[in-house]
Amino acid sequence: MPDFTLPRFDDALLAQAVALLRAGELVAFPTETVYGLGADAANPLAAAKVFAAKERPADHPLIVHLAEKEALARWAQDIPPIAWKLAQAFWPGPLTLILKKQDWVPATITGGQDTVGLRIPAHPLALQLIRAFAALPGSRGGIAAPSANRFGRISPTTAAHVRAELGEQVGLILDGGACPLGIESTILDISRFATHGAEILRPGGLDAPTLAEVLGILPAARSRKSIAAAPRVSGSLASHYAPTTPLRLLETTALPDFLAREIAAGHRCGALALHPQPNAQLCRVLPADPAQYARLLYASLRELDNAALDWIVVETPPVGFTWNAIHDRLRRAAA
Ligand code: TXA
Ligand code: MG
Repeated sequence: MPDFTLPRFDDALLAQAVALLRAGELVAFPTETVYGLGADAANPLAAAKVFAAKERPADHPLIVHLAEKEALARWAQDIPPIAWKLAQAFWPGPLTLILKKQDWVPATITGGQDTVGLRIPAHPLALQLIRAFAALPGSRGGIAAPSANRFGRISPTTAAHVRAELGEQVGLILDGGACPLGIESTILDISRFATHGAEILRPGGLDAPTLAEVLGILPAARSRKSIAAAPRVSGSLASHYAPTTPLRLLETTALPDFLAREIAAGHRCGALALHPQPNAQLCRVLPADPAQYARLLYASLRELDNAALDWIVVETPPVGFTWNAIHDRLRRAAA
């Protein structure tokens, strides 16, 4: 019996999406984290279109989205047992595992590296799309999808964001409403697990203490320096996830003074804050709960970025593991 409580694409739309992917075209689709710009991950020409549409440097690898855990062995090799445990516990979900790639996996996807990023998204529409694509004869069942934004910019959390950012370049944009998490997946490198353990390359929707429940220890965050020297994570660049308006991250007590000074100097200031900022020309107040904050973060930044401001001022959120991914994105948006 189909579950009628879950949203589903109608058959004609799904068939169109799958046909486009098969033909090497791009299809944007919702996931629980952010919207992805999807392409057949086994087709290097399709992957090349993703890089072109995003204006993304060719050495920044793409995440491959799968529909079932068993597909892990088709895409990765030398899989440590911990990978299966993590997949069992957290897939579908906002966790990307970096593993040694199978030899056949195109270098275009992996940015020339010998590892591949894999995840099963926890969004019924994404799963419906990947399953339908995987069911095609000869399909390897992987959809490569970076966030559907131009390189370095804010990730899209609605179909309208994708249209505004990449509209012309995408064959089809599947609309699944707003993404429920609103922040990208956590990227965990276990490709050298025996010698290096598990390392977080990008904090995201799954926090470190939750990962520790399966890993047995808190995973280390790989330092910026060693990321720069070794595998590339574009999310690790100092400036990323960034609006075009200059952004300042300020402590609660420093915010009112900064606003008063800049506004007196004739500058237009918008605020993204936990408390109302009556001086700001435009203020978005976000809830002091990390999940709710994350869900609204990118849409709010986009709105402020489109308001012709001289400054976006962000009130520094609380610290703690559940806020790590948010701090990470705000730091890079400010850089
Ligand atoms: O939540 C997400 O992860 C979203 C949704 C669409 O799934 N995707 C996403 O993709 O954020 P993207 O391309 O914007 O960011 C993926 C990051 C990049 O920084 C990339 O460099 C890194 O993952 N990555 C992918 N494969 C990698 C690999 N083999 N080694 C190191 N980093 C990798
Ligand atoms: Mg991205």
